[in-house]
Amino acid sequence: MDKFVIEGNGPLNGEIAASGAKNAALPILCAALLSDAPLTVTNVPDLWDVGTTGKLLGQMGVSVSRPDAHTRVLDARGITTCVAPYELVRTMRASILVLGPLVAARGEAHVSLPGGCAIGARPVNLHLMGLEAMGAEIKLEGGFVHAKAKKLKGARIVFDTVTVTGTENLMMAAVLAEGETVLENAAREPEVVDLARCLRAMGAKLSGEGTTTIHVQGVAKLHAAEHRVLPDRIETGTYLAAAAATRGRVLIRDTDPGLLDAVLVKLQQAGAIIRTGTDFIELDMQGQRPKAVNIHTMAHPGFPTDMQAQMMAMNCVAEGTGTIRETIFENRFMHANELLRLGADIRVEGNTAIITGKERLQAAPIMATDLRASASLVIAALAADGETLIDRIYHMDRGYEGIEQKFRALGAQIKRVEKLLP
Ligand code: UD1
Repeated sequence: MDKFVIEGNGPLNGEIAASGAKNAALPILCAALLSDAPLTVTNVPDLWDVGTTGKLLGQMGVSVSRPDAHTRVLDARGITTCVAPYELVRTMRASILVLGPLVAARGEAHVSLPGGCAIGARPVNLHLMGLEAMGAEIKLEGGFVHAKAKKLKGARIVFDTVTVTGTENLMMAAVLAEGETVLENAAREPEVVDLARCLRAMGAKLSGEGTTTIHVQGVAKLHAAEHRVLPDRIETGTYLAAAAATRGRVLIRDTDPGLLDAVLVKLQQAGAIIRTGTDFIELDMQGQRPKAVNIHTMAHPGFPTDMQAQMMAMNCVAEGTGTIRETIFENRFMHANELLRLGADIRVEGNTAIITGKERLQAAPIMATDLRASASLVIAALAADGETLIDRIYHMDRGYEGIEQKFRALGAQIKRVEKLLP
């Protein structure tokens, strides 16, 4: 299993480009199931979860071609099966995103339930509730969701919790349903908006994305389209947090500062000088130690839970004490135990972590537990004295394109090894 060896060696400094957003690319690739015409997706990040989605669609009979590393052309005309098997779903929960499109376009779906997840229970009850409201017959059997509907019907669906993939699944299902669907208390994440744009390019009729109410008017069929995936705000935020923790200065190109308002405010509170343009963000700590910040995770436009772990790592080396309250997922502080091994001062009380910064952390062998937790460990290792070995970095490969190349471009000493060094 691959590991990272990281030598904490001072401030990050340099310029890199952001990749396309993983969490937008995954639903957009699944949207190809809605159509019998080709969908060309550009700015697709080259990472594991995208590969898994390609495999998932490929084994259903969707033709997936890759004219270059960042482009996929999908054609679902030859689909042969509507099954998403456990072996693929267990490695990527977002596989549930095939459910809505399959029922809407093919009348049936058999999707394995994702099962246990490191960052909490993460149920899919709201996805199922919505499909049922649209007339699908749903059965849970043998660890699978079996859904059937001759033709979905538009419905008014009120989410009792804001769910990102739930909103995306039902938005996709509604596109081919008969009549109008209204999604209330819908997720407002930029990735939901990007999916809506892609669906519109494919001929769907919908409005209100980016607000809490989305209206979808069903159409009979979709047509060929091309869509460019928006930049990854979490990847961008991760490199900014790393620069802040190491007292550095970085410029991220090909990004969109408008996607990161809540994160930029916190980095400014931490003492960063932030300069933005239409497609770049520059962060400069002017060599100063960051100040600890308080964070409360919320659905968009609040502070994203996917940036919580990275900001905790920054707080570990900041001046003062900061609290982080996680309100989206239970059990999303597993990185705290690993950060403690680097000498951090963290106290976890329920869904709140209280972090008192230390001038430096000390290297130690540590282990990644989930995607964003692994990013926080890399940041902490960059701000630690000595050589840190991080195990199970496959979590990181799931969601970050070219992670070691990008960190190296910023001056980090990071290398990938396959087994323990002697
Ligand atoms: C998506 C993102 C993930 C991010 C999360 C929250 C993708 C592929 N993943 O995950 O990176 O951390 O949004 O921003 O886009 N819930 C229910 N019932 C449901 C669905 C969700 O109770 O049917 C609850 C969850 O347990 C959680 C909350 O709703 O407490 C939010 O989860 P949700 O937005 O659905 O997360 P994902 O879409 O899985």
